[in-house]
Amino acid sequence: MCGIIGVTGDGNALGVIFEGLRRLEYRGYDSAGVALVDGASLWRRRAADGTHSVDDLIGSADEVPEASRTGIGHTRWATHGGPTTENAHPHVDCSGQLALVHNGIIENHAELRGPLEERGHVFASQTDTEVLVHLLEEELAGGVGLAEGLRRALAGVRGAFSVVVLSADQPDVIVAARRSVPLLAAVGDGTGFVASDISALLGRADRFFAIEDDQVAAVGPGTLEVTTLAGEPVEPTSVVVDPGWDVEAAQKAGYDDFMTKEIHEQPRAVADTLLDRWGPGKDLVIDELRVPPEDLRAVDKVVVVACGSSYHAGMVAKYAIERWARLPTEVEIASELRYRDPVLHERTLVVGVSQSGETLDTLEALREARRSGAPTVIVSNVVHATMAREADGVLYTRAGPEVSVASTKCHVAQIVALDLLALVLAQWRGTMGPAAVAAEFDGLRRLPSLVDEALGRAKDVDAVAEALAGARDYFFLGRNIGYPVALEGALKLKEISYLRAEGYPAGELKHGPLALVEPGVVVVAVLDPLQDKMRSNIAEASARGATVVVVAADGEDVTGLSDHVLRVPRVDDPILAPVVTVVPLQLLAYALARRLGNDVDRPRNLAKTVTVE
Ligand code: G6P
Repeated sequence: MCGIIGVTGDGNALGVIFEGLRRLEYRGYDSAGVALVDGASLWRRRAADGTHSVDDLIGSADEVPEASRTGIGHTRWATHGGPTTENAHPHVDCSGQLALVHNGIIENHAELRGPLEERGHVFASQTDTEVLVHLLEEELAGGVGLAEGLRRALAGVRGAFSVVVLSADQPDVIVAARRSVPLLAAVGDGTGFVASDISALLGRADRFFAIEDDQVAAVGPGTLEVTTLAGEPVEPTSVVVDPGWDVEAAQKAGYDDFMTKEIHEQPRAVADTLLDRWGPGKDLVIDELRVPPEDLRAVDKVVVVACGSSYHAGMVAKYAIERWARLPTEVEIASELRYRDPVLHERTLVVGVSQSGETLDTLEALREARRSGAPTVIVSNVVHATMAREADGVLYTRAGPEVSVASTKCHVAQIVALDLLALVLAQWRGTMGPAAVAAEFDGLRRLPSLVDEALGRAKDVDAVAEALAGARDYFFLGRNIGYPVALEGALKLKEISYLRAEGYPAGELKHGPLALVEPGVVVVAVLDPLQDKMRSNIAEASARGATVVVVAADGEDVTGLSDHVLRVPRVDDPILAPVVTVVPLQLLAYALARRLGNDVDRPRNLAKTVTVE
């Protein structure tokens, strides 16, 4: 969702904010804005130009206040109010002396706005956010400091927020607060920062802190004071930066875009996620898991919760956990679980899957699980993420920073991490003997080179993309372990090409969607262990005139089955195959989107880290 950054004590405050906004752009790019303290007043610039907003903002920065050392910046993913300049953050109060940026949603904004207007406040936007700056304005009129003012202003606010404020009247401090939405602070030599994400602050400071829910942080040059919303001082939570996350890891490194770079980093992401997992006792060891083996042995059900591509990785895990650990496994869309009164208890292992570790739907589902007494484990790619801090156990995907909105390397790393979890459960529950666990682990270790081989066939995928140019309707079909792969293939295509693409269990085609199949429709079918049945389903689509593309392992006889074939290297155990079969589908989505001239890294209307419900 939105990206926020604040800086104080830095002679190049504007440069730091602009660079930070570039690094945070993946969180939303409907508009961007910045405010600096300029002597006794504020200097503000905003731009709303879709995916070019940050560039436009930087281009519009004329007559920059040179002496300014304090400022805030924002890149927006619109929720309330269209993506216009008036709705772009920072928002200012009636006096123009206060500026505020916000990520999240103020749920009671409508009921707060009426009384503020009655008291004479003039609103300049349609956002939910603007009420905050007017509430703060009223509190500061009582003569309190910025931090106390923000604490008081937030007292009657419902919803999720991370918010950063600055005042021309108190020029050497920025104050920030958080509820449910990520916020980090950092302190350097005479400098202080806050941001939504550590990527914005890498290289700027050496000490980083996570601001927790209902905390307020006052950041000055070289100082940080954290209190609760009630004003009690608290020790800030120090966070250690993952050594794999440096400024360079978040650069395109010669690739045209982040998505290709990340697709090509998949062998590394899978290999790194498997590193150091085989213990000296010739068994699987997951150091960070933290949940004691006896607790895992007591589990009688697993519930996996996630959103988007992470949900599809969770669907793959269902097959592995049920087959290997013999535990009934449900996979839930996180936003659905929370409001469904789910049956969870101490023997239900709830596994969240999240690249960012911050997606609000997944975070709230995990919190619901913890309230029910269920042990929770998060599969996260971000070491210091909120979910990683809150869950009982963690399993890290070691994919490095993923910048492109459409997930690729994190998705395959998640599948592998979940396979590891399934094997650990099987090992500890005794449903698999040591030799069987070792054999599956060996299978996992062969995946990086198979993924590499699949990537080496990108030209074949380009040729198929060329043949499909002009098609607008796609079905992605799969059965069994091929079904989540089909869903992921369809999601990738939708996200970046804006083409209509539906993922479907192949056996269900005849129960409805077949009515939509006609010449011009493309059916992409993933051959899988139940391929005899699958072949019949493909024939049913072909007979209705669909153009059929089949994803098939080397050596598979596909004569007469389809119009096009995308070959992948064979994976011995079909349960491990999704990590390889998804690769040509990622490449296909990428090739089709590029042909359409789309910005693959920043698809319209989407954002990478979704911190609203
Ligand atoms: C957004 C992203 C997707 C991602 C999903 C879940 O929709 O665009 O790529 O799969 O959020 O994100 P998470 O960080 O929880 O894996």
